[in-house]
Amino acid sequence: MSVVFSSTSAGLIYPDGTQALQDTSVSVSAGEFVSIVGPSGCGKSTLLRMASGLIGQTSGSLNRSGTVQFVFQDSTLLPWRTVRKNVSLNLELQKIDQPTIDQRTSAVLELVGLADSADKLPRQLSGGMKMRTSLARSLVCEPDLYLFDEPFAALDEFSRERLNIELRNMLSTRNAGSLFVTHSIAEAVFLSHRVLVMSPRPGTIVNEFQIPFGQHRDQDLRYSSEFARVSGEIAQSLRELSPL
Ligand SMILES: Nc1ncnc2c1ncn2[C@@H]1O[C@H](COP(=O)(O)OP(=O)(O)OP(=O)(O)O)[C@@H](O)[C@H]1O
Ligand SMILES: [Mg+2]
Repeated sequence: MSVVFSSTSAGLIYPDGTQALQDTSVSVSAGEFVSIVGPSGCGKSTLLRMASGLIGQTSGSLNRSGTVQFVFQDSTLLPWRTVRKNVSLNLELQKIDQPTIDQRTSAVLELVGLADSADKLPRQLSGGMKMRTSLARSLVCEPDLYLFDEPFAALDEFSRERLNIELRNMLSTRNAGSLFVTHSIAEAVFLSHRVLVMSPRPGTIVNEFQIPFGQHRDQDLRYSSEFARVSGEIAQSLRELSPL
């Protein structure tokens, strides 16, 4: 599998002298889903910003191949544009021809279950529908690397679990790599091939867990003993970082 993103011993010190990351080595291959968990303020969002190229590392090296798409928790939809028009925005900015824009937008709206709500305005949507619209807007771009910064943190557990399934379905048709930050161990285990644990600031990867589940994952998996065992190991690793 080709590597779409890697950092080697990357460090990042902000201009005010805050050392956010130290010696961080992460790699994501095409088609691979990698989650990052770690204490608040340890540098997870910083790592994503660095991976996207928004900010540069101050030591070590980075490699990125192809296009990147950020997905944030705040869906930041344009309130005056319909669901369809919010989703097609990035394609319009790329000056793609209108029939192609219409075809790709319709396909993605179908995929996220929003075809019936395509003409609604953001204020007419539930929180979960807004998040779906935001996901659709990112998916329509077909990037090589997705960077997710706690995209589902504001949702109730039920919507979140459903979107976890939908996200897996959507990505199964793509060969993109994903780097996904979350505070939910269950979400990380459910979605990922690998889960990385970060230390408190300055953040570095202190542990890596291979997730032993195959491609087919349904809600029942969350209640299996193997799921509890893997989640427990990751929770233990986090507890050791910040003992009470
Ligand atoms: N622009 C900035 N300038 C200086 N320091 C910053 C800047 N942005 C973030 N930091 C600091 O860098 C550290 C890591 O911040 P970051 O937002 O990456 O953490 P995080 O792991 O995403 O936290 P959370 O889980 O709360 O979202 C924190 O100490 C933060 O205060
Ligand atoms: Mg953050």
